[in-house]
Amino acid sequence: HSACSLSYVSHEIRKGKTKLEGLPATYGLEEECTTLEITCMDPVISLEVVLCYTLFEELDVIKKNVRIRNQNKNQIILTKVLSSCLNLEGMDYDMITLNGSWARERYVERKRIGYGEQGISSIRGESGHQQNPFLAILSSDATEDYGEVYGFNFVYSGNFIAKVQGCQFDNIRVIMGIHPETFRFVLETNQEFQSPEVVMVYSDIGIGGMTRTFHDLYRNHLIRGEYKDKKRPVLINNWEATYFDFNTEKLLNIAREAKKFGIEMLVMDDGWFGKRNSDNGSLGDWVVNEEKIEGGLHYLVSEINKLGMKFGIWFEPEMVSPDSDLYRTHPDWVLEIPGRKAALCRNQYILDLTRTKVRDYVFNSLSNILNSANIEYVKWDMNRQLTDVGSYAHGEYHQGEIYHRYVLGVYDLMERLTKEFPHILLENCSGGGGRFDPGMLYYSPQIWCSDDTDAIERLEIQRGTALVYPLSCIGAHVSDCPNHIVSRTTPFETRGYVALSGTFGYELDITKITEEEKKLIPKQIAQFHKYSDLIRTGDYYRILAGVDCNYDCWQIISKDKTETLITIIQILGRPNVHSKRIRLKGLVKDEMYCDSESGECYSGGALMHAGILVPNLDGDFKGKIYHFIKE
Ligand code: DGJ
Repeated sequence: HSACSLSYVSHEIRKGKTKLEGLPATYGLEEECTTLEITCMDPVISLEVVLCYTLFEELDVIKKNVRIRNQNKNQIILTKVLSSCLNLEGMDYDMITLNGSWARERYVERKRIGYGEQGISSIRGESGHQQNPFLAILSSDATEDYGEVYGFNFVYSGNFIAKVQGCQFDNIRVIMGIHPETFRFVLETNQEFQSPEVVMVYSDIGIGGMTRTFHDLYRNHLIRGEYKDKKRPVLINNWEATYFDFNTEKLLNIAREAKKFGIEMLVMDDGWFGKRNSDNGSLGDWVVNEEKIEGGLHYLVSEINKLGMKFGIWFEPEMVSPDSDLYRTHPDWVLEIPGRKAALCRNQYILDLTRTKVRDYVFNSLSNILNSANIEYVKWDMNRQLTDVGSYAHGEYHQGEIYHRYVLGVYDLMERLTKEFPHILLENCSGGGGRFDPGMLYYSPQIWCSDDTDAIERLEIQRGTALVYPLSCIGAHVSDCPNHIVSRTTPFETRGYVALSGTFGYELDITKITEEEKKLIPKQIAQFHKYSDLIRTGDYYRILAGVDCNYDCWQIISKDKTETLITIIQILGRPNVHSKRIRLKGLVKDEMYCDSESGECYSGGALMHAGILVPNLDGDFKGKIYHFIKE
């Protein structure tokens, strides 16, 4: 039979938070959080379920997950394990989700909650470009600065479901967890199943309050490693500059020119290994192609280091091309339903990372490269969703475990990599932002936000991303125009302003851009050095979201409220518009703040209530930044 009915057995309250074995999770010291574990039992099937809650003292956050133990002498098959369930009284709520597609990730959608079921999900094997594992429920009159908001985010990078049910009694229920559709997990006697956790954030000061709590939580209790609180090097990535068409000389020319203008690191993207000159082959063969990288990797990296620059490299560790030595040797190492041929996507198969020996192969390939030269950054890419999910290594009875075991395999690899190479800055990527989730943030302090680097498209993409995720983790670069995705030409300054509110870097052939553009680079880099601490650690406010769609404007204030940076971007130039008023937020009313450019000083109250008048920006896609410091 298939039923489960749980009753309370006992509970325990203790300081701190237990680590989740094999899964990413928020963390906190004993003085920072308290954990409540409620043990429940279904005596008929002898199934123990522990509901685990952790409260963070300084933040309006509760995290929730469940741990299941089979105490039956027979095996139990789990077909649905959700991580959280919250009932709210009434139905007068709206729902916010982040939806999109490749190159158009995480657009904000707000809609009214109705009767029946509504929500988002992924059964693509990754969190996906289409729907981010995030959901907010808010009072229907809530705004940026007013009203109640409940935010839910799943700390997991695979299939998920997030659903709201409007029920017959006019109440709602919100659930979140691993998607049951692709899940069937066999638990033997005494075995445990650990669910990933859901982070639940509460704000009674509107959507902005929810955002700032998520940012604080992730910066202080999720992101780890050496770069957690550190300024990131200004990098230049060769993807949009050369695609697959590069060699040592081209890379060195880019690096030499980049160095002159203050860029600190060169990242060599896809195409340096095997025989890879297009996306047709070689994934899995992690051996340097010395026809392109003449002199070898060690030579290239030492030449870059001699320039005084760091070096970073691209991998796609989870994949294998049919045209590769790896696939020819181990055709059974891919995810495939035994007896059927798996589908290709971007000409590649997915490696069966549920298997230890496949993970060992990948880990050893990566470490051989990383140990062969002074590599200080890795971009971990993943360019297709999972299909045909089956494994030759697990019996037919266990095929329903593969989606989840795959995600655990990815986490295991990332944990090994970050432990073995703690000095390397890891940037996650999945065809742009296809796996932008808190699970990934546990391993990599930054994630490439989108393959769409157009400054105007990025406004919406980055605004949606920053609804939940801190600016410190949003991979953003200045790229060349016309833009490679939308063919739009935007001012170089504007591209800089938009990338500044992320990790900041360049993605263009610096040897080919105009002298005027080159001259702007040192100014942009100086701005990055000046504002990076503020942007990474400050409080983020949306100023014009939903107010005037011809502009985007956002503000970052230091925690001590002594400094603030405001960015305004105008989409289209308009005739006969002389100025735009923007009212700042979060300042101290009676303190005086001075504009670093004009020297003019105003009270916080004046800046928040009367605001500043931005002069006509005179043209399409123009931007401006303001910086105020407390007098
Ligand atoms: C997708 C990434 O998002 C790009 O930045 C680039 O690394 C390509 N993959 C390389 O194949």
